[in-house]
Amino acid sequence: MDIIIKKSTNLNEVAKLFEQHKDTPFTYLTNIPLVEMLSQLESFQIFVAEVNGETVGCIHCLNYIYDCGYVGGLLIHRDFRKMGIGSKLLNAALSSLSTRHVYLFVEEENTVAIRLFEKTGFKGIYKRFYSVVSTPLVETSEEDSIITSDIDWDVFKETTGFQERNGVVNFGYYPVKVTRDMFEDLRASNKILRCGSVIAIVENSHGLTVGEHLYTFNDHIVENLHGVDASRSIVEVNPFYMEPRLSDLVSLVNRLISLGEVHDKTYDGDPVVSKPLFKGKKGALTMEYKKHKGS
Ligand SMILES: CC(C)(COP(=O)(O)OP(=O)(O)OC[C@H]1O[C@@H](n2cnc3c(N)ncnc32)[C@H](O)[C@@H]1OP(=O)(O)O)[C@@H](O)C(=O)NCCC(=O)NCCS
Repeated sequence: MDIIIKKSTNLNEVAKLFEQHKDTPFTYLTNIPLVEMLSQLESFQIFVAEVNGETVGCIHCLNYIYDCGYVGGLLIHRDFRKMGIGSKLLNAALSSLSTRHVYLFVEEENTVAIRLFEKTGFKGIYKRFYSVVSTPLVETSEEDSIITSDIDWDVFKETTGFQERNGVVNFGYYPVKVTRDMFEDLRASNKILRCGSVIAIVENSHGLTVGEHLYTFNDHIVENLHGVDASRSIVEVNPFYMEPRLSDLVSLVNRLISLGEVHDKTYDGDPVVSKPLFKGKKGALTMEYKKHKGS
């Protein structure tokens, strides 16, 4: 059987594949309007697998910022699984990305996909944990902690648990690997803030309704999309703690809420956002792949 792996712009074929599998686990039909929208981005690419002219698999990938890229939307036709097509598509996407680090999200229960990703060289780093704050929270302390961008690199590294999470933080929707230069850059643009015991990575994003779902994208993405309504402001915050004090996070969130709805994008095990006040929910596993020089 001849399997052809190639770049594609034929979204109809990809949509058909998703449509055929819409009731099977780990397949999301809503990917299609999202994929259509993201296709406008210069670095966004779709790869498909063809057998006898029929599309039997797909994946997409994107170069993001700070030397980080993403892969998503991997789906193989049910009759063509366990033939190595998933691995081939994943490797094609990885080779086409020019970033040193590559990330993906996968449901924890999707053990088949996780095995494939691990075999390819991805490592699980942390499970995502979300919560949305739309109205100011009840303050838990009379004290109003000062917000500052005066943060030391060593304190940042220690607080964010660099070792545990490989230096990866959620910057807006996507994770990024923090380097010293990136830290300086984010701090200078007031995207790393300290509020009492909290050190948070903060990004001003936009909520876009695509299909039936709300997605968040930052300016880096939105300014390259045409005809989208980016009027809904969302502040994405990834908090870490010098000590887990609820009142400091409440104080930070309540001040950021004047800029837009606050979305806490953190990790499962966050000692503060996991408190009932935030009504958080567990998300997918974030996996990381490190490209070797020259690959
Ligand atoms: C996950 C998925 C993409 C894997 O695709 P695939 O083409 O079957 O993947 P591969 O064939 O490359 O590898 C998968 C497994 O098949 C095995 N395999 C490969 N060739 C094989 C062969 N000739 N005979 C038997 N097994 C084979 C691989 O070794 C691997 O098994 P292992 O995990 O036990 O080591 C596919 O199952 C799928 O579309 N699932 C639904 C959507 C989904 O979950 N997407 C990922 C979202 S993050």
